[in-house]
Amino acid sequence: MKLFDVYPLTQIEPVKAEGCYIWDKDGKKYLDLYGGHAVISIGHTHPHYVSLLKNQLDKIGFYSNSVLVPMQNQLAEKLGRLSGYEDYNLFLCNSGAEANENALKVASFFNKKKKIISFKKSFHGRTSAAVAITDNPKIVAPVNAGHEVVFLELNDIDSVEKELMKGDVCTLIIEGIQGIGGIYIPTDEFLKGLELLCLKHDVILILDEVQSGYGRSGKFFAHQYAAIKPDIISVAKGMGNGFPIGGILISPKFKAEYGMIGTTFGGNYLACAAGIAVLEVIEEECLIENADLTGSYLLEMLSLLPKIKEVRGKGLMIGLEFDFDVKELRNKLLFEHKIFTGFSGTKIIRLLPPLSLKVAEADCFIDALKDELGKI
Ligand SMILES: Cc1ncc(COP(=O)(O)O)c(C=O)c1O
Repeated sequence: MKLFDVYPLTQIEPVKAEGCYIWDKDGKKYLDLYGGHAVISIGHTHPHYVSLLKNQLDKIGFYSNSVLVPMQNQLAEKLGRLSGYEDYNLFLCNSGAEANENALKVASFFNKKKKIISFKKSFHGRTSAAVAITDNPKIVAPVNAGHEVVFLELNDIDSVEKELMKGDVCTLIIEGIQGIGGIYIPTDEFLKGLELLCLKHDVILILDEVQSGYGRSGKFFAHQYAAIKPDIISVAKGMGNGFPIGGILISPKFKAEYGMIGTTFGGNYLACAAGIAVLEVIEEECLIENADLTGSYLLEMLSLLPKIKEVRGKGLMIGLEFDFDVKELRNKLLFEHKIFTGFSGTKIIRLLPPLSLKVAEADCFIDALKDELGKI
């Protein structure tokens, strides 16, 4: 059997990883500024993370969520405290798409409506419901097209108000910072406006922090720059530092009922061990503060470089937009300077490094980019 060929593959086979670095099978060392789609939050193979997972595997790795798993409470307690959402409840699942899928269900159970507002260039995952709340035609399959979703312009509060006045909107879903779409940031005023409008029109506000959450933006959640409190927040990616785990943080205004939402693997012992280790390291090593510091440094230094059309981002979630195709530039960075980067479309380079990235490591990238841009 062959693999279903849906991923353009980089012909590098990683065999070892540590901190912000990856080694390939020939022993070459790479600086990882992509973190496997923003997944590596505390750094590759962090010793505390490895030890908690190994210890857990020696005892029990999985049963089902029909038994008592006190680690789930431990994870919820730590997440509540570190994120500032102690009064919210946690539902655990396995991925970002699943988190959003469940967020939509909870919202719809609550107000019994079904129309969704989403934003242009947004991405919320690939499931039958969640997939339809992106406006990327490459991702929306015909079978998903029946969902009632309205795509509005980011940061245009008037168009949101107009839509909400119709009275049939169930929920509005927005990323803390748009990731795959190209690092576009909702303004604080826009988010504040959304919070007010949602409250006024009985619409559930879902903040998708799957990519921008868990400290990546320099705050635990990117929306916390705007000091708003959404009804539901979805998380995944950095939550497990590579172990598949996702979840939704649910406001106390929603009442849980047995069977309302559910999943087989969600909250299993190993996933909880990974999730707990991540939070402990984030706290112990002050990684949110580090993301803020190294991120601000990167943003400032990158904005001084020539030939970049725009530098956007917060913390260690950064987009560099060029007015040319970045494929060759990224290849040079990867094969000549041994630096992994991400992309969005054809003209944007995306940086999503581990939150432990140091200024000296950021400098390696700045020097490499300066060198390559000097040759163009
Ligand atoms: C903002 C956002 N939401 C949801 C998802 C979907 O997450 P997953 O791939 O874990 O299903 C992604 C994935 O890139 C994402 O960036």
